[in-house]
Amino acid sequence: LTPERYPVRRLPFSVVSEDDLAALEHIVPGRVITDPEELEAPNVDWLRTVRGSSKVLLRPRTTQEVAHILRYCHERNLAVNPQGGNTGMVGGSTPVFDEIIVSTALMNQVLSFHDVSGVLVCQAGCVLEALSQYVEERGFVMPLDLGAKGSCHIGGNVATNAGGLRFLRYGSLRGTVLGLEVVPTCVPGRGCPSARLTPPCPARVSAAWCPSSVDSRTEAAGRFCHLGVPCRPRSHPMLWALRERITEALSHDGYVYKYDLSLPLDRLYDLVGDLRARLGPSAKRVVGYGHLGDGNLHLNVTAETFSASLLGTLEPYVYEWTAGQRGSVSAEHGLGFKKKDVLGYSKPPEALQLMRQLKALLDPKGILNPYKTLPTHA
Ligand code: FAD
Ligand code: MLT
Ligand code: ZN
Repeated sequence: LTPERYPVRRLPFSVVSEDDLAALEHIVPGRVITDPEELEAPNVDWLRTVRGSSKVLLRPRTTQEVAHILRYCHERNLAVNPQGGNTGMVGGSTPVFDEIIVSTALMNQVLSFHDVSGVLVCQAGCVLEALSQYVEERGFVMPLDLGAKGSCHIGGNVATNAGGLRFLRYGSLRGTVLGLEVVPTCVPGRGCPSARLTPPCPARVSAAWCPSSVDSRTEAAGRFCHLGVPCRPRSHPMLWALRERITEALSHDGYVYKYDLSLPLDRLYDLVGDLRARLGPSAKRVVGYGHLGDGNLHLNVTAETFSASLLGTLEPYVYEWTAGQRGSVSAEHGLGFKKKDVLGYSKPPEALQLMRQLKALLDPKGILNPYKTLPTHA
């Protein structure tokens, strides 16, 4: 999928050798995965829009193991791709070429929880839903909830600064993260990953809003019947499934062109109608949903399969339209691999330069998740 849609050239990193595999086996014994079948899923993103060709996946259990892996890869000039639950929407979590995948799947321990201050210290690979359950049993609530909660890892949530369904109530995730244990590629890290949680809001109301237009109601009904979710839910958990499973429902159409835009509230939905008229029958569906509270529109255009000509009609139009509103081309999903070259629509060259300098400070050889976040030319 990748070369056709996203032309990119491999950078001159080393190729993993037999000696490298032996050295890595020494660092994470029994947790060096080279079986092609096991590597199939971690090489493809959730949306199935990008695919890498990594031949090695590592499963460290501790920060020390991660530090050793990164020190070794730095010395050998081997590129590395950190991966959490692989639910990201922008191709950040999968390798582009043969980068070594470092999975946090086995780093899933809660290290401590203080039931007065609400400070949680945990490893990066804890699954969000498991953390939610853990803290709810102790009378607290995670300040984050999203449809991918059953798979995404807290490390991935923090790395993408995920927004989600509780943003309006608890604010941005970065506001509740107290500290991170960061492993740069050349120096061992120190400190603890911790976050402050809040007691649950005493009153919670979930309500359904029925769109006034017959067309949109019919459309929504069609989508949810496809998933087996009742269109007139009577109980609260069903109710949330209507919102959380939109992404999954759209993926049944075939290929999804996904945009994650910040826009002024009074223009939030305009682009949806505009694109319906502009694209006509070349798109199967043009829908907008998102997070009204933080001015975040998820604009989704679906088609049976990927088409370069449909992409050409969408881009750069969508980005220019967004920049014209002084909006952002990435609201909550991050830039990853797919959005890195459009960052300039939202950030001035000085900001990009500063980002490059910060990256070089922590990762001088650029081995950590290359081809992501920063534009190729600028
Ligand atoms: P991955 O997808 O594995 O990785 C994402 C990025 O983080 C990659 O660049 C990866 O290299 C990096 N990364 C992962 N772990 C680490 C680590 N420990 N250290 C350094 N870098 C790391 N997003 C929202 O913001 N709001 C939503 O409401 C929302 N809903 C979603 C609903 C569905 C059904 C799906 C499939 C996705 C949704 N997302 C949403 C996308 C969102 O970005 C991810 O679900 C989540 O935050 C990523 O976590 P992950 O563990 O899957 O990370
Ligand atoms: C959501 O809000 O449902 C997620 O961000 C996923 C998506 O944009 O489809
Ligand atoms: Zn979202």
